Amino acid sequence: MNMGAGSVRKAAIALLCLLLGLAGAALAQAPKGNGARYEGVASCAGSTCHGRIEGDGKVVRQDELAHWQDASSQTGAHSRAFAVLGSTRGQQIARTLGLGDARSAKDCLGCHATPAGPRGDRFQISDGVNCEACHGPASGWIASHAAVGATHAGNVAAGMTALDRPQARATLCLDCHFGSDRPGQFVTHRMMAAGHPRVNFELDLFSSLQQHWDEDADYATRKGRADGMKFWAVGQAEAVKRMADLFAQPALARDGAFPQFYFFDCQSCHRPIYDKSERTLTFETNAARPIPFGMPPFNDENFIMLSAAAKIAAPGLAARFDADSRAFHAALGNDMDAAMTAARKLGGSARALSDAFAGTNFGGDMAFQAVAAIAGDAISSRLTDYEGSIQSVMAVDTLLNALVKQGRITVGAAAGIRGSINRAYAAVKDANAYRPADFRAALRQAAGAIGSLR
Ligand code: HEC
Ligand code: HEC
Ligand code: HEC
Ligand code: HEC
Repeated sequence: MNMGAGSVRKAAIALLCLLLGLAGAALAQAPKGNGARYEGVASCAGSTCHGRIEGDGKVVRQDELAHWQDASSQTGAHSRAFAVLGSTRGQQIARTLGLGDARSAKDCLGCHATPAGPRGDRFQISDGVNCEACHGPASGWIASHAAVGATHAGNVAAGMTALDRPQARATLCLDCHFGSDRPGQFVTHRMMAAGHPRVNFELDLFSSLQQHWDEDADYATRKGRADGMKFWAVGQAEAVKRMADLFAQPALARDGAFPQFYFFDCQSCHRPIYDKSERTLTFETNAARPIPFGMPPFNDENFIMLSAAAKIAAPGLAARFDADSRAFHAALGNDMDAAMTAARKLGGSARALSDAFAGTNFGGDMAFQAVAAIAGDAISSRLTDYEGSIQSVMAVDTLLNALVKQGRITVGAAAGIRGSINRAYAAVKDANAYRPADFRAALRQAAGAIGSLR
């Protein structure tokens, strides 16, 4: 038998892992492509693999398991994703919806556990969102990815997900942090009404909240320098594209005789009514959304941010995107079919922006310009609602971090203006107490503090 260098390497690693009590079975006859198998956290967690106590590995930290399991912070949220289905809240949601035990309800497992697919012997659903839910089913690469001479490109060719690429990462995270059309990956307003928390997401910020890797010189050599502003901008474009693509599907856009309320701004329906002879307006009107008075607006948090990003990084596409988002809001006031057609067009504009951003170098003053644009009149006048406001403060936070990473602002200077960012967060802490004008003032202050460091 003629064994090539690759298979010798694989055999050596397989033997090593066997000796260490790791999954021998998992390594045999790895299926390729679509048939790839989820091998389970136990297959990654060996003490010489990703289960070290100290993050002192030569290439990667190798203590990724401890971060993924961190019980004290959001970094460990994915390891708890299955367990929360068994919590009082998880059980209450499932019971209200008549789904039985949430831990076996397919409507929940698509996001709270590793998605469906072939599974090896060591796979456990109770691991929640496991390593392979993000990095891709490992049967095709688990044996080879850590071998001497293995490259990132080679790993990706063997089925590893290229999470260093903003579009690939955004697509993955949005499957669960917004929804997808695959089984069990869609949160409905019925789930929200039954007690599911609302789902907020910003790609760059949430990446750092669950960071279990070092973006050091070695990482830059292997994968390139991770650009926070690029992740932010692509994340906004992919979010708009995802919303529009899902809303363009009749099965998801409607729920019974109604539209799917999940897509709409929550607070616009959930407001108090003051029944007095003189009307008390409980919201601000919004010129960027030409919808009839008395109709709920589509949740446009990502449209607003994408509009700001486009003006700075893809000005040639900005006007088209703004026109398509206005037309979409307007179509919602007419009829559902028109709205779905407009959603398709909007999705196309967002796709074009995502592609443009993926090829853009976000250097120079762009992050400063984006912060100024978000707090400037054209964009901040659109921050009339809670969801968009949360998204804008996450943006300012993430762009500040990007400036620190780029070396444009020192860590100390960023810490010095942290208080003003925290005040903006405080202004969106409670959805029921949200005041748009107060929020915009806090946001302007935070943006001004960042601008003063330019
Ligand atoms: C589209 C993906 C998706 C689906 C489907 C989904 N969830 Fe969630 N769920 C999430 C995300 C994301 C969060 C975290 C929200 C956040 O804090 O940003 C979450 C949070 C939760 C929480 C709160 C967890 C905590 O730490 O307090 C519970 C409980 C929960 N989900 C239960 C359920 C149940 C029960 C179902 C099925 C009826 C379900 N989820 C379906 C994505 C989903
Ligand atoms: C929620 C998604 C997610 C989960 C779950 C997850 N990772 Fe990651 N991981 C990422 C992202 C995103 C990156 C950074 C992008 C990249 O370089 O791949 C990363 C980076 C890494 C890196 C560093 C790669 C490098 O080139 O430096 C390692 C090693 C790693 N993860 C291992 C694990 C292990 C082991 C687990 C399970 C214990 C795990 N990850 C769970 C998303 C995830
Ligand atoms: C298979 C579904 C799935 C994927 C893919 C996924 N997540 Fe999650 N994520 C969840 C669920 C479910 C929760 C809530 C778990 C809980 O509350 O314990 C969560 C929680 C989080 C949290 C903690 C948020 C909070 O409010 O506490 C962060 C941060 C996060 N995810 C980031 C990411 C990033 C970044 C990606 C993409 C690299 C990603 N996730 C991909 C399902 C997923
Ligand atoms: C188009 C209007 C509309 C939108 C938009 C909307 N809802 Fe609702 N919501 C309703 C209605 C109608 C009910 C049922 C109220 C009732 O039975 O009295 C409801 C019920 C609820 C309940 C249960 C309230 C209770 O008293 O038990 C919650 C929680 C909820 N919605 C959350 C949300 C969230 C989160 C969003 C945004 C993702 C949202 N809603 C968007 C109309 C809306």
